[in-house]
Amino acid sequence: MDNNLVIDAAVPGQSGFDEKQVPLYYTRKTRDILHKYGPGPRVHFHMGIFDEGARPNTTVAQRVLRRRIVESQEAVLDHAAELWDVPRNPHGHLLDIGCGVGGGSIYWAQKYGAQVTGITVTGEHIPVISDLARQAEVADRITPVLGDIHDLTDENRYDGAVAIESSGYMDRERLFSVVAKALKPGGWFGIQEHFLCRPEWTEFIDDYYKTRLGTLTEYINAAHAAGMELEQDEDITDRVAEFWMQSMAWSTAEVETMDRTGVPSPIARDRLLESERTHGKLYRIWRDHAVETRLLLFRLGGN
Ligand SMILES: C[S@@+](CC[C@H](N)C(=O)[O-])C[C@H]1O[C@@H](n2cnc3c(N)ncnc32)[C@H](O)[C@@H]1O
Repeated sequence: MDNNLVIDAAVPGQSGFDEKQVPLYYTRKTRDILHKYGPGPRVHFHMGIFDEGARPNTTVAQRVLRRRIVESQEAVLDHAAELWDVPRNPHGHLLDIGCGVGGGSIYWAQKYGAQVTGITVTGEHIPVISDLARQAEVADRITPVLGDIHDLTDENRYDGAVAIESSGYMDRERLFSVVAKALKPGGWFGIQEHFLCRPEWTEFIDDYYKTRLGTLTEYINAAHAAGMELEQDEDITDRVAEFWMQSMAWSTAEVETMDRTGVPSPIARDRLLESERTHGKLYRIWRDHAVETRLLLFRLGGN
């Protein structure tokens, strides 16, 4: 795929979903993500996992909260890697779908020697990924691609694919169809995603994150239609719910620091206050399993 693939705005989205909003949303957010989850070089924008029942104290220094948030994001990748058997199959060619600012791509390259093609629909991410990959000394193993995954034309190319909290932005039938073509026979597709259990929360979450979250059944049906089968399904909802508490505490601390020092945050004050309020609500949604976060592993037939 062309590194500067033009995004095809004419592709119709799912009903009510505006695909053009996604790159706009992330263009506005890139700097905020680097400020909150950086400095990297592995900068992630997804939920992290905590030990079963762990409720780490949130009345601590902001740098402690940030370290904990980043560690939890890396911990969920460690957990997923084990579940998806990556340590036993290192050095593959991976497709990192919706790669954000490349934290996951750098992780797979550094920890497992993978060659990674990271695709994102947000142009601002590309120079950031290149810069962070250089800092991490894995620039030779990472190819950032600007493009829409729905338009991927690669065939029989990757040993595995991952989509860490990005499939919620995508049309699942098209996603599984392009991934099935892009994988080598027997290839795997690991997904970390949130799944709707109580539909009355759909609008609230999709509005906030500009997503189009789906149900687990929808994913499994789309996978079957593309010739892929579910091999692993782990519900990590209870272990990631704490992420909202820690994230909320970080936002509170950011506002307090701003008020105390008079130095503005790169993140707009309104957005921080909105995060504080919304993350409390999201915590309750996750605690009640109105939405569930799962790690899934699908495999393509043929090996
Ligand atoms: C929540 S972020 C996750 C980023 C990354 N996986 C991580 O864990 O840090 C979602 C990412 O999906 C990307 N994305 C959304 N829709 C996409 C599409 N149709 N094609 C390619 N990337 C897409 C966005 O640009 C963004 O980078």
